[in-house]
Amino acid sequence: MSLAPTLTRIPYHLAIIMDGNGRWAKARGLPRLAGHRAGTENLRRTLKACVRHGIKILTIYAFSTENWGRPAEEVRGLMSILEQVIERELKELHEQGVRIRHVGRVEGISPRLLKKIEKAVELTKHNDTIILNVAFNYGGRQEIIDAVKRILQEAVPPDQVDDALLGQYLYTAGQPDPDLIVRTSGEMRVSNFLIWQGAYAELYVTPTYWPDFDESELQKALDHYAARERRFGLTAEQMKRLAGQGK
Ligand code: IPE
Ligand code: IPE
Ligand code: MG
Repeated sequence: MSLAPTLTRIPYHLAIIMDGNGRWAKARGLPRLAGHRAGTENLRRTLKACVRHGIKILTIYAFSTENWGRPAEEVRGLMSILEQVIERELKELHEQGVRIRHVGRVEGISPRLLKKIEKAVELTKHNDTIILNVAFNYGGRQEIIDAVKRILQEAVPPDQVDDALLGQYLYTAGQPDPDLIVRTSGEMRVSNFLIWQGAYAELYVTPTYWPDFDESELQKALDHYAARERRFGLTAEQMKRLAGQGK
């Protein structure tokens, strides 16, 4: 990928680990699913704010491959919340120019839900205001395994395998890497999220639970990002020179 977008003060690609729905609900004496519902409401606000900030790609971690291990009732609830969100929001998202993409494994998703996801992806495929990558049934390790399997199936010669080529086999093929990864609710870990693409992403962790992560919280994350010095393994002087060339 080119360095150009990564040198802007606003992230071109923002990724969010939307964590803390359960704790948010617990703090209010509510069931965990109430937290997940509040979380989806917040997503709608955050997406609009991202558009206003000029962010071009928003990747959200909605359901990990490990989340299948949660109690059956919670898993069922999360599936039905996603289904409802697509039903309810698709028209408006399309009108806003949002291009929806699914990043994650298809296997394991019920045919009914998968059909809805595919419909949303198909309907919005020419939109270009912002890309919304929904990381659903997503695991970074699984993504790399899936990529390696396809590379082997296609008998790609080993000397052609480099990071650009592997990137083309990931769910995010064709998209630049995330510039900033935000995690809500305080946990200092990546939990199998974008482990390849996030190699040089800036990380920002806030103790705020996802349903409470409002516009002012987003602004704080963006302010932190704007103040960071990204170096990609180079020296500060080299980066300054590169930035000068980009203008
Ligand atoms: C994030 O919130 C949403 C999903 C993982 C689906 P959690 O459900 O993980 O909330 P906590 O971490 O238990 O508070
Ligand atoms: C990461 O959160 C997954 C999503 C936000 C969808 P988890 O709550 O599943 O992560 P851990 O278990 O705290 O690492
Ligand atoms: Mg969690």
